[in-house]
Amino acid sequence: MTLNEKNQNDIFDNDLLNELGIEYEFSNEPINRFKNNAPNEDKSEELAKLRVEIEKIEDCELKNSAKNLVFSDGNSSSKIMIVGEGPGQKEDELGKPFVGDAGMLLNKMLKAINLDRTNVYITNVVNYRPPNNRKPEISEINRYSEYLRKHISIINPEILILMGSTAMEALFGNKIKISKERGKWKEVIINNKTYLTMITFHPAYLLRQAEQKKYSWADLKEIRKKIDEISLEI
Ligand code: URA
Repeated sequence: MTLNEKNQNDIFDNDLLNELGIEYEFSNEPINRFKNNAPNEDKSEELAKLRVEIEKIEDCELKNSAKNLVFSDGNSSSKIMIVGEGPGQKEDELGKPFVGDAGMLLNKMLKAINLDRTNVYITNVVNYRPPNNRKPEISEINRYSEYLRKHISIINPEILILMGSTAMEALFGNKIKISKERGKWKEVIINNKTYLTMITFHPAYLLRQAEQKKYSWADLKEIRKKIDEISLEI
């Protein structure tokens, strides 16, 4: 890391500044001299490494039949991370999550609570399209949840939104029902860190079951309320 415009005769300990990931910027202003840019820099490197790990997965039916790896979309600095199930046909073709019909609905759902998809971070449990869009098997969910956990640790969101039962099962196991668990704030611990989590219905499910949208709307309002309560900058 380089220290920008540092002067003042090295009164700061360079090694310590580097260790803390702090970039020192000299300014005539008496405050805000320290700007911590490190997390973003580290994230892109760590995300690239994680992507390579997923590219190297072997003996996986999903990977073998998919055209592309679908890693993520959105802003990696966002405090909000959304996890879906897995890529569909369009996502597989474009290598981007939530770009088909479910993605269009997701965009509208976010807009309804004044969020833009470019300001959140979006990924899926499995990063390769399941054949014929089948639900990923438990063994596949378990296998990919290891990468998902790493992904969450890197993004380090304040609010984690799990859309659909696959995302729920990846972090909470398959002994619970989404109809009972959605809409409540929960905590999930990954790598010794606790993440505030909301389980809600998947947009693809809402496209099939329009009468469930009222529950989804209630969940979205809860999420908006929490964003305001904790003064989350988005
Ligand atoms: N459904 C998902 O779960 N993820 C996508 O990326 C698209 C559809």
